[in-house]
Amino acid sequence: MALILDGRSLSEKIRQEIKKEVEVFLQKGLRRPALAVVLVGDDPASQIYVNNKRKACEKVGIKSLYYKLPQNTRHEELLELIAQLNADEEVDGILVQLPLPEQINQREIITSILPSKDVDGFHPENMGMLLSGSEEGFIPCTPLGIDILLRHYNIDPKGANVTIVGAGFIVGRPLSALMLNRNATVSVCHIYTRDISVFTREADILISATGVPGLIDKEKVKEGAIVIDVGISKVNGKIVGDVKFNEVKEKVKAITPVPGGVGPMTVTALLLNTVKAYKKRVYSISTIKP
Ligand code: GUN
Repeated sequence: MALILDGRSLSEKIRQEIKKEVEVFLQKGLRRPALAVVLVGDDPASQIYVNNKRKACEKVGIKSLYYKLPQNTRHEELLELIAQLNADEEVDGILVQLPLPEQINQREIITSILPSKDVDGFHPENMGMLLSGSEEGFIPCTPLGIDILLRHYNIDPKGANVTIVGAGFIVGRPLSALMLNRNATVSVCHIYTRDISVFTREADILISATGVPGLIDKEKVKEGAIVIDVGISKVNGKIVGDVKFNEVKEKVKAITPVPGGVGPMTVTALLLNTVKAYKKRVYSISTIKP
């Protein structure tokens, strides 16, 4: 029976620490950190994600500003909102929930966010920093959450074969850069990969981020591997991951559950990035030092 990598309880612990840190800011006479969350349209999954993020902010004392725009919002209107948020001294982080409706150019929107407020880490400047081996900028939340979870359980990717299934912009691509920074040997599989088993069965650490329920069965994993499940899908009203948890857990050394694994760590990473943005902003304009 595998070790269950408990993202929920680790998240709870980190969030308690963030809450205490925010209280210290207030004791020093500083304002609260603030995150602006922008949701365009009414995709039900996005609404749930955004609500979770906002609730998590409020619970640790981060102010959450919410901008809910209609599905038919024009590209220029969204650019205008971001320009306002960029200029607002009291906004530390800006998160535009993805995906955006098709009339909006997602790449341009992401690039219009000030890199210093880009707590999602999606701006080319932040992505580029990560790829160049620097972690001074913001690391995207899911890769960062996974990195923190691995470190907590003393799982060091150095020298390990890390296989990532899914080459998306939000998880797979930045995670491949982060795992390379951790000195792993990284393979990235995607929809054109002829046979993912060739790569997944070699993985010491297997990370699946596809949203295809049950894609990873026991035949696709190596005995004693560590399995990280980033998938979140709804099947018959139940939230499930990419991994057939019940059969895979019998074969591996450690595994994340869904829910309660990577999901809460992603939100916790967002809170950490927001506090990081706040500290850079506040301490650069105030005489109060950390
Ligand atoms: N949609 C799915 N995941 C994410 C995320 O981490 N950030 C944003 N902005 N949108 C998402």
